[in-house]
Amino acid sequence: MALRHIGVLTSGGDCPGLNACVRAVVRSAGGAGVQVSGIRYGFRGIVDNDVIPLDDRSVSGIIQLGGTKLRTSRFLELHQPEVVRSTAEALDRLRLDGLIVIGGDGSQRAAVALSEHVRTPIVLVPKTIDNDVGGTDYAIGFDSAVNTAVEAIDKIRDTALSHERVFAVEVMGRGRGILASAVALASGAEVVCIPEVPLEPDAIASALMRCSKKGKCSSIIVVAEGCPGGASKLAEDLRKRVPFDVRVSVLGYMQRGGPPTAFDRILASELGAQAFDVLAAGTDRPVMVGRIRGEPVTHDLREAMHIEPHSFKELRDLCHRLSGVWFGA
Ligand code: F6P
Repeated sequence: MALRHIGVLTSGGDCPGLNACVRAVVRSAGGAGVQVSGIRYGFRGIVDNDVIPLDDRSVSGIIQLGGTKLRTSRFLELHQPEVVRSTAEALDRLRLDGLIVIGGDGSQRAAVALSEHVRTPIVLVPKTIDNDVGGTDYAIGFDSAVNTAVEAIDKIRDTALSHERVFAVEVMGRGRGILASAVALASGAEVVCIPEVPLEPDAIASALMRCSKKGKCSSIIVVAEGCPGGASKLAEDLRKRVPFDVRVSVLGYMQRGGPPTAFDRILASELGAQAFDVLAAGTDRPVMVGRIRGEPVTHDLREAMHIEPHSFKELRDLCHRLSGVWFGA
């Protein structure tokens, strides 16, 4: 069946690169004479019929903008079977030949659930600063968030050095320490704490003492928010164990905003165009697009849910190795 009309939505937490991806979808569709409806506020917009027409001009001047022109939401009720059914009915009423969902792991589960009830093919484009979606090496937004956090830590290091302090810097990453590991390595942090490999305060304290003996007068500890108690708890524990001034800085939502890096703009453009091409080629199953070792990949969306995300654990180990604080593998 020829593609005539598709929908696109952004869902879950915002991140840099969403607008670049929407632009790529709309421009690819426009080039092929396919009409695009933008669904506002993620999956919730399907139920609310909050839909706007998008054409080449309506996505002009947005490639460099953070946030999402389409708005977003976390539609948590979408795990309830009756809400899945009513959302599927509302999606049918939109009479789309395909739907492109730009979302993270929560959106992936929602898209799979919806696919059981609708004939509209759904293509997921992975985005999340946490980079915890399996089946792709990089999700849109990760690179920008890493750069934002590294820039912030470069500044914090000035204070750490000048006052000879230890800083526990908390970065986002509810479930995993992928973002924390990348940020720690890139900012030359002394220690990184991630939920996957818990570190005891005693071990961190002796690492800081080892650093001090070697003449280091300040240290940065990057802490993933998913570690129990986050940076505040760790700082509290360390103050009882080391003679240094231990301070906390929580980077928070600044990591999700701001203009996307060139890497994210390129990735978002590639994945948006690829998602459209998958729909144009015709697919009778829900699909996820991604990049593995730089090459485009597509996965059955249901199977993709069971692919473990790349852990980037080697970045965490390398961070400790290069800072001279080896905790062992
Ligand atoms: O986008 C992922 C993420 O940034 C997590 O790291 C964080 O825990 C979560 O979103 C918080 O988002 P919100 O407060 O919007 O639910």
